[in-house]
Amino acid sequence: MDRIAISGGARLHGEIPISGAKNSAIKLMAASLLTDEPVRLTNMPRLADTRFLGMLLRRLGVEVVERDGPDGPETVLHAPEVTSAFAPYDLVRQMRASFNVLGPLIARTGHAKVSLPGGCTIGARPVDLHLDALRALGAHIDLHEGYVYAQAPRGLTGAEIEFPFVSVGATEHAMLAAVLAHGVTVLKNAACEPEIGDLANCLNAMGARIEGVDTATLTITGVARLKGVTHSVIPDRIETGTYAVAAAMAGGEVRLTRTRSDFIQTLLDKIEEAGADVAHTNDGVIIKRNGARLRAVDVETDPFPGFATDLQAQFMALMTMADGESVIRETVFENRFMHVPELARLGADIAVSGREARVRGVERLEGAPVMATDLRASVSLVIAGLAARGETTVNRVYHLDRGFERLEEKLSACGAQIRRIKGDGDDEE
Ligand code: EPZ
Repeated sequence: MDRIAISGGARLHGEIPISGAKNSAIKLMAASLLTDEPVRLTNMPRLADTRFLGMLLRRLGVEVVERDGPDGPETVLHAPEVTSAFAPYDLVRQMRASFNVLGPLIARTGHAKVSLPGGCTIGARPVDLHLDALRALGAHIDLHEGYVYAQAPRGLTGAEIEFPFVSVGATEHAMLAAVLAHGVTVLKNAACEPEIGDLANCLNAMGARIEGVDTATLTITGVARLKGVTHSVIPDRIETGTYAVAAAMAGGEVRLTRTRSDFIQTLLDKIEEAGADVAHTNDGVIIKRNGARLRAVDVETDPFPGFATDLQAQFMALMTMADGESVIRETVFENRFMHVPELARLGADIAVSGREARVRGVERLEGAPVMATDLRASVSLVIAGLAARGETTVNRVYHLDRGFERLEEKLSACGAQIRRIKGDGDDEE
C-alpha cells in the first residue's frame, strides 16, 4: 500500500485550485439513473469514490465515460435502459453512498435489491431515515439477509415527510426518489448542505420541480420524466477547508482558487479567531499566518451552516499546537475521534470524554509513523505532519485517495515537503 511521507516545517506559499465536490459528484452520478438521456457532469473530481460509483452504475446499465472536457475533467453518464436493479454488497460496502441508488432505481424501474451499507469507522450510520422516507413515498420494503428488497410497481406517490433530525443522505435520497413520484412531496427539517442545493439545481435543470432549494423545507412536484443535462459540480468545501487549515497550521500564505469561501464561513471565522488572516477573493480565499502562535478556540460540529463534522479532525490537528486549551464537541457522529490516538503519537495532548475532546496545545509536534481510519482523519494527520519536526509517514493512503484529488501534488506546489511512497501491498500495518 502507498504511504505519504512529510518532512515538517516548511511554510506554504502559493495557490491551490480546488476540485469539484466529492459528496456532490456521487449523488449527481446517481441522478443519471433517473433519465434515459445523457447527464454530463463537468468539474468532476477524479477520486476512488467516483470510480467505485462508476463501477456500480455500469453494473446497472449506465454507460459511464470519463474524459477531459474544455473545462477539465468531466463524466458523461447515460442510462438508455436500466438493465439491472441489483446493487451487491461488495460494491455498496466499498462506498456507503452507493446505497443512494436505491431511490432512483425504485423511481425508474419500480423495484430494486440493494445491499445495506453496514457500519462504519465513524459511527453506526443506520439508514432508517432513508427507508422511512421511501416507505412514506409508497415503496414496499423488506429486509432479508443484509439486503433491501423494494417494490413500487405502480410508481411512488408524493407524501409529507418530516425528518426527526437532519440527515444529508436521507434528504438527498428522498429527493432523488420524489422527483418522479405522482403528486407533491414536502420534505421538512431537510438538510441544507450546499451539496443538496447542487443536486436540487441539477435535477431542476433536468426538468424536476423542486422548490425551497437551500432551505429546510423542500417542496417537490413529481414529473413524468426527466431529461439530460450538462451540470458543473460545485467546488469541494471540505477540500477548501482542509487546505485553509493546512495553511494556518504550516504558516505562510496560500490562495485557494476555483472555490467559494461562503461554503466554509463558520470555519473561516474560527481560523480568524485563532489568529490567522483570512481574505475573501472573487473565486476563493487567501489564508495567511506569519510567525505568531495561534490561540486555542472551541468548536462544535453541526449540520450546515454550522461547523462541518468533515472538518473536525483537521481543526483538531490545528489546535494541537495552539496556545491554550480547545474544546471540540462532535455532535453529528458518535465515534469520530479515531484520529486522536494517532495525533497523540505525534505528541499532541488530547483527552476525550464522550463526544468532547480537550486539546491542550503543545509547543511542538514530532514526526512519527501514523495510520488513519477514515478519509478526514487521514488528512488531519497530514496537516499535523506539515508542522511536526522531522518526518511523518501516513499509512493507509487509500483513505486519502477516496476524497482528495492529487493531494501531495497540490501541497508540494506550495512548498510542502511531501511525497508518496509506492508500496508493495503488505507493508502498511
Ligand atoms: C454525509 O453523510 C457525508 N457523506 C459525510 O461525509 C458527512 O460527514 C455527513 O453527511 C454529515 O455532513 C456523503 O455525502 C457521501 P447524515 P451521511 O445522514 O449522509 C444519523 C466524508 O468524509 N443517521 O447527515 O451519511 C447518522 O448516523 C463523509 O465525506 C441515522 O441515524 O450523514 C449520523 O449520526 C463522512 N439514520 C447523523 O444521522 C439515518 O437513516 C447524520 O448523518 C441516516 C443518518
